[in-house]
Amino acid sequence: MILIKLGGSVITDKSQYRTFRKDVMARLASEIAQSGQSVIVTHGAGSFGHIVAKKFYINQGLIDFNQVPAIAHVQYDVRDLSQMVVNQLRAANIPAVSVAPGSCFVMDDGKLIATDTEAIRALAHMGIMPVLFGDVLMDRAKGFGICSGDQLMELLCDIFKPDAIVFVSDIDGLYTDDPKTNPDAKLIPEVTKKTLEEIRTGSTVDDVTGGVVNKMEAMLRMCEGGREVALVNGNVPGRLLALLSGEDVPCTMARGERYDNQRQEG
Ligand code: IPE
Repeated sequence: MILIKLGGSVITDKSQYRTFRKDVMARLASEIAQSGQSVIVTHGAGSFGHIVAKKFYINQGLIDFNQVPAIAHVQYDVRDLSQMVVNQLRAANIPAVSVAPGSCFVMDDGKLIATDTEAIRALAHMGIMPVLFGDVLMDRAKGFGICSGDQLMELLCDIFKPDAIVFVSDIDGLYTDDPKTNPDAKLIPEVTKKTLEEIRTGSTVDDVTGGVVNKMEAMLRMCEGGREVALVNGNVPGRLLALLSGEDVPCTMARGERYDNQRQEG
């Protein structure tokens, strides 16, 4: 089974409030269906979540009660987006159902607490794809907060122990700097613990590479046991399908150590 996160920057126009990129989502759904792989999809919120969440400081938790209607507002919008995503998956003959994390999980000071995952497991067991997404969750310490699609990927990784993981983004992979502003930025084809240290100590470390470091850390956490975790460009038609079909494509691949290697070394 392969776990896929569709980034909000691919399935929405992040600069325009509530702009769903329906054609892109339809193509990605058909690439997933054509691959013939068993897949579980999680998606980001893009302009259905970030714009209003930022305006009302939702990620800081409860500051004042004017934020409360905004929580329901964002939750409404991301559920709407998720229905649109599911619509396209179903149009590609994938039986999928949207599962709202804010309605079944909570957080504790930003940490996702998922005590009951029975329904998600049972859906998948029945051959129905549970589709989770970045959402506003109630938080035991802060009142509420944002749970990202990436946090959900780590949870789903623990539950389903997938063979591989793919993050679908709007760039070819991780770069040493922001390729949109720095022409000297270089694609990082492979992430290991060593590359992470090099980036961390590199002279170009700034906010953008800080984001890169976080993403690398998350990718490395998920590739335990030799599982491949890839970051690939979903805006290039056919690239996700090629990756799912085992072809060599431009991307960033995180590789962990296999348990058998670790045993040999130890
Ligand atoms: C964000 O989810 C959720 C909200 C803002 C409510 P993600 O962080 O996974 O979304 P993208 O992929 O960056 O858009």
